[in-house]
Amino acid sequence: MRDGEAGTPLVFQGQVTDATGQALPGAVLEMWQADDDGLYAQFAPGIPEWNLRGGIVTDDEGRFAVTTIQPAPYQIPTDGSCGRLIAAAGWHAWRPAHLHLKVSAPGHQTLTTQLYFKDGAYLEADVASAAL
Ligand SMILES: [Fe+2]
Repeated sequence: MRDGEAGTPLVFQGQVTDATGQALPGAVLEMWQADDDGLYAQFAPGIPEWNLRGGIVTDDEGRFAVTTIQPAPYQIPTDGSCGRLIAAAGWHAWRPAHLHLKVSAPGHQTLTTQLYFKDGAYLEADVASAAL
């Protein structure tokens, strides 16, 4: 992240395990997220290409910790066909704040998912219907 990245500091930590609960040392966790304005590097102009994007390898106990900021909710594009669908359906364009994760380990199926924040705005009404 940028020096002095705006936003509420967040330490995201955990342990990667397999489906039986066995720790996975050496698992690769790729993570990307919006910034405090709800903007993503590589989509919004003026943000360094790899800002708030990166990868980390879990330790001998499958554990990891990432120091970042809490992402903000954001609106999906409201122009083009997406915008016409939203307007026709009468939806709003908001997505709840989330972290994108892709977790991989040799011999295991790769998991790509999103994690949300308890009591976050738009959880009950995610335009992408991905939160619940
Ligand atoms: Fe996202």
